[in-house]
Amino acid sequence: MNKAKRAAVIAGNWKMNKSRAEAKALVEELRPLVENAGCGVVVCTPYLDIETAVKAAEGSNIKVGAQNCHWADHGAFTGEIPAEMLREAGAEYVIIGHSERRQYFGETDETVNKRTRAALDAGLRVILCCGELLGERQQNIMEEVVGRQIKVALLGVSKEEMKNIIIAYEPVWAIGTGVTATADQAEEACAFIRGLIAKLYGKETAEATTVQYGGSMNAKNAGELLSKEDVDGGLIGGASLKAPDFAAIVAAAGK
Ligand code: PGA
Repeated sequence: MNKAKRAAVIAGNWKMNKSRAEAKALVEELRPLVENAGCGVVVCTPYLDIETAVKAAEGSNIKVGAQNCHWADHGAFTGEIPAEMLREAGAEYVIIGHSERRQYFGETDETVNKRTRAALDAGLRVILCCGELLGERQQNIMEEVVGRQIKVALLGVSKEEMKNIIIAYEPVWAIGTGVTATADQAEEACAFIRGLIAKLYGKETAEATTVQYGGSMNAKNAGELLSKEDVDGGLIGGASLKAPDFAAIVAAAGK
């Protein structure tokens, strides 16, 4: 496998944070800090911040994404947002299957697959999340859990469409807890995922697919995690809410 063949991407997941004014200020503060980034830079904002962030990022290397989308293109789905509307608002990315969606909003591997399909059809790039619970790690079934999540999520996704898929490995026990996976644990899981992509789509596609780590990644631990062969970036929650912290991770990814 060859790390140089794929793009590192650092994506911020703002979750349910930042008013429009705060979103504008954060993107504006971030712009000069990441302008020479040696990796892709994405901020995934609440729906209502998307247009504000897109406008604030105009002419920069910062891309904007959403944190979910519905699988239908329109219809009687009160409270939902279709992928096409995200495109219309200027989003280029969307996070699908985040563990908080699975935990609090009934997301399943099957709905993750439907949302992924819809996002690809609308021309969005998908940051597809997977990861095991603490108990699953303790039972030694990380590979079974993550393998199923990915195989189901990618049902009906072609080799060609894999260009628009980023996989984010986020062990649930490391999200927002301050407990980071060790660099070796992150590498083991990301390498497993790449091996699975190779089985599903061939070695070339596997080598070209960006596989991120997420879960309490911060300015201090990013360097070590990102130095691993199969860790091609990060999905950053808490540390994406402050421009200097996020920029430090971007700098670590560019090395
Ligand atoms: P965290 O969140 O960096 O705050 O752990 C990561 C995520 O949920 O994507």
